Amino acid sequence: MKNELAKLIEELKENLLYLEELGVEEIQAPFEIAESSKEPYKQKTKNQETSEIAKFSPTGSTDKLLRPFEKQKKADSTSPKTSERSKTSIFEETSLSSLTKKEIAPRIDNETPSQKAEITKETQASLFEVPKMTQKKEGLTISLFDEAPAQSLPVTNETLEDIRKDIGDCRRCPLHQHRTQIVHSVGNPRAKLMFVGEAPGADEDAQGQPFVGRAGQLLTKIIEAMQLKREEVFIGNINRCRPPGNRTPTPEEAAVCKEFLIREICVVRPKVIVLLGNTACQNLLDKKASITKIRGEFQDFYGIKVMPTFHPAYLLRDPSKKREVWEDMKKVMKYLNEDAS
Ligand code: URA
Repeated sequence: MKNELAKLIEELKENLLYLEELGVEEIQAPFEIAESSKEPYKQKTKNQETSEIAKFSPTGSTDKLLRPFEKQKKADSTSPKTSERSKTSIFEETSLSSLTKKEIAPRIDNETPSQKAEITKETQASLFEVPKMTQKKEGLTISLFDEAPAQSLPVTNETLEDIRKDIGDCRRCPLHQHRTQIVHSVGNPRAKLMFVGEAPGADEDAQGQPFVGRAGQLLTKIIEAMQLKREEVFIGNINRCRPPGNRTPTPEEAAVCKEFLIREICVVRPKVIVLLGNTACQNLLDKKASITKIRGEFQDFYGIKVMPTFHPAYLLRDPSKKREVWEDMKKVMKYLNEDAS
């Protein structure tokens, strides 16, 4: 009896500690005394124990009370083979609030190479919102981003090279008809800072590099003013093909192409993403708010800090806005430096 009580107290302490780690300050659920506990103490079955923990949980779900490694144990014991896991369960595992990159990684590392590939594919698949025209990719059905928003970026085993290969000689949207070449993202694959623009212009289309025209040169100056080199950061666009006449990409064109950018974000895992202009913001953050409203305030992209700011092309038209962009970049530098210390 004494031992059982000590064990219960120990479990209770652990669960309380875990709730504290989750940030739960108060438990609202009425604490009912179960009929069974009014009876003299009897050995409880596993099911009884579980249902009592559920009563104690603020959400009523026992999963919330499990520590990450316990969740894993449970997942392992309920899903017989990785290959048989449904897309949804992989999505839930990766998006589950408390699982961090480090906590997921060892699980992936324990898988066989073919299981790893499967997990990566499924993880990717659950991440991207892709319009109907590209929904089927080599027998893989891509589920929608908005099914259940993930809170942290899924871990992926693919490389930037894999993504390039997948893009191939892309003809997924009408923009391919007008391009000279695809303009891929460039930069440090381990960059702490990423810049995302809209789409290539004439210079980029001709040279096959993002941000090399006048706006690009201004971006390079901004990067250097931040005490960084262009090669140290990662630079990409929502769309990789130049829209005719430099028009804004349509939402459909953007949706097809941003899949690859998001996959790159999963590989690079920067600390901060700077979104340049309205198109980048509206497509990556799925926010309708204009850049004028949201610039300068950190936003969140699956656990990554995102700083929306004006596009350098806009600064060329209105140089007085450079001051605001510099204020935004100072916030980014402060965050990067804080994080590094
Ligand atoms: N503008 C963009 O948004 N991207 C580029 O690569 C160049 C100009």
